[in-house]
Amino acid sequence: LLSMFVISGCTERAKDLEQVSANKRIVIRFSHVVAESTPKGLAAKRFAYLVHQRTGGRVEVQVYPNSTLYKDGEEFKALTENNVQMIAPATAKLTDIFPQWQIFDLPFLFENYAEVHNAMDGEVGQKLFDVLEEKNVKGLAMWDNGFKQMSANQPLHTVEDFRGLSFRIMPSKMLARQFQRLGANVKELPFSEVYRALQWGEVNGAENPLSNFYTKKFHQVQSDVTISNHGYLGYAVMTNKTFWNSLPEDIRKIIKDTLEEVTMWERKEAQRQNQQFLTRLENTKDITIHHLTQQEKLQWKAALYPLRQEFTPEIGEELLESIIRE
Ligand code: LMR
Repeated sequence: LLSMFVISGCTERAKDLEQVSANKRIVIRFSHVVAESTPKGLAAKRFAYLVHQRTGGRVEVQVYPNSTLYKDGEEFKALTENNVQMIAPATAKLTDIFPQWQIFDLPFLFENYAEVHNAMDGEVGQKLFDVLEEKNVKGLAMWDNGFKQMSANQPLHTVEDFRGLSFRIMPSKMLARQFQRLGANVKELPFSEVYRALQWGEVNGAENPLSNFYTKKFHQVQSDVTISNHGYLGYAVMTNKTFWNSLPEDIRKIIKDTLEEVTMWERKEAQRQNQQFLTRLENTKDITIHHLTQQEKLQWKAALYPLRQEFTPEIGEELLESIIRE
C-alpha cells in the first residue's frame, strides 16, 4: 500500500521538486544493510515518504537498502564524513568505537519488549546517545528488530550442543564472548556475507531475529532454529551532527516528529513480522523449530551470566545500574 502511495505521489513530487529547486532541496541519504521488506527497511521508506510529504518536497530522503551504498563497517565512517546523512545500524556495530553500547548485547538482559523500550527511551538511551556526540554524531531514535534466535545445522538445546561449532557474529566483543562461553568459535562477518558463509560452511550457525533470518532466506542454508530469545537486536537511528545543525529549525522539527511517529510504527511492525515469520518457519518443510525447556534456558543463562561482571568495566557500573533500575 505504501509503495502505491509513493508511486502515485510521483507526479506530485516532481511538481514539488520544481517548486523547491530554487529553495535548495535538502537530500538525506539513508543507508542500511537489510532487505526493504524488513521492519527497518519499511520504516526507512515510510519515513522518507512522510518527510517528503510534510516538507512539501523540500526534503528528499533517499533510502539505500541491502548494503547497496555502504556495508557494515563502512556506514559509520561514511556518516561521520557526511557522505551519508542517516544510518540505523544494529547497536552491536557501534561497540568497537563506543564500548558502552555493548550493554544491548548482554545475553538475557531483557525479558520482554517493555523492558527494552524502557531502557531505550529512558536514561540509558539518553546516556548512550550522549557518547555518540564525541564523534559528531547525533542519535535520533531507537528502532527494534527483536529478540535473536540461534540457528545451525543441528538442534541446539543444551550448552554442550554448541561445542566446537562456529557462529557468525556482528562486530561486538560481548557477542564473541557469548559464544565462547557456550564453547563455540566465532567469525565476524558483515550481514551481506552471512548467507554465503552459511552456504559454504565457513560458519555453522548464526543468531538473528526471525525477520532477518527469513527475508535473507537463511532457512535455505540452516536446518534448525532454536527459539532462545537469548539476546536482543535493536537499531540506533543517527545523523551527522554538523549536517543536523545546518538544517532549518522547521525542517528539524518535522524530521523529529515524523521519526517519533515512525518509531512507534516500526516497533509494532517488528513484533508483527517476527511473529509472522515464526509461523511461516514452523510450516517450512526443511527447517525444524525448537523451543527451549525451562531447564535448558536456565543452563544457558548460568553459562552466560558471568558476562555481566566481565563487561562491567567496559560498560560502566552506572549504566548497568540504570538499566537494571529501568
Ligand atoms: C546483522 O548484521 O545481523 C544485523 O545488524 C543486520 C541488521 O541491520 O538488522
